[in-house]
Amino acid sequence: MVSNKQIYVVGLCGSLRQGSTTHAALTIALAGAKEVGAEVELLDLSEYQLIFHGAVADESEYPPDVFILKEKVKRAHGILLGTPEYHGSFSGVLKNALDLMRYEEFENKVVGLIGVSGGRMGAGNALSMLRIVGATLRAWVIPNDVSIPRASQAFDENGNLRDPELAARVKTIGREVTQFAALYNSK
Ligand SMILES: Cc1cc2nc3c(=O)[nH]c(=O)nc-3n(C[C@H](O)[C@H](O)[C@H](O)COP(=O)(O)O)c2cc1C
Repeated sequence: MVSNKQIYVVGLCGSLRQGSTTHAALTIALAGAKEVGAEVELLDLSEYQLIFHGAVADESEYPPDVFILKEKVKRAHGILLGTPEYHGSFSGVLKNALDLMRYEEFENKVVGLIGVSGGRMGAGNALSMLRIVGATLRAWVIPNDVSIPRASQAFDENGNLRDPELAARVKTIGREVTQFAALYNSK
């Protein structure tokens, strides 16, 4: 570690589906973060009662889970965004979660991107668009990202990637986010 500060890395999962491959990929990336000393937490959006941004007149009327989620992201030094490719973009679930947030959750945070897709072309479009969102929120999106094509066949029944090279690349995202967050937070 380059910093004595305890680095906290969260993974935001953009799929609500039970048995989600995005969830599995984030779990691997967070293991990479943990290996280099991060405290990690996977934020499964299916466990939060959120609301569409703008559905209530006053943000103070948001359900409590919105504030709990925002607080966790605000506390994080590193943020992993995981998404399935949906219609050539990232998921609406993740978009809404991001729309509930502001600079205070993202500015100067280190962000890593992971995408999965059903098809063989991968999640490149989703990743490109998330890169723009990260930059817009003034986060440091690391240059390295990872896309897992044909996700339904890529994992075994225990949620491990069958391809060890791909698994290592996913872990690297978690590791790099932690290490750059530690660098950023060092004196
Ligand atoms: C609404 C919707 C749109 C999708 N669009 C694409 C797409 O554009 N390209 C693609 O390769 N797969 C597409 N898929 C397949 C998903 O990327 C794939 O099933 C992925 O594994 C889902 O992630 P999950 O396992 O985390 O739920 C789409 C799936 C859904 C439900």
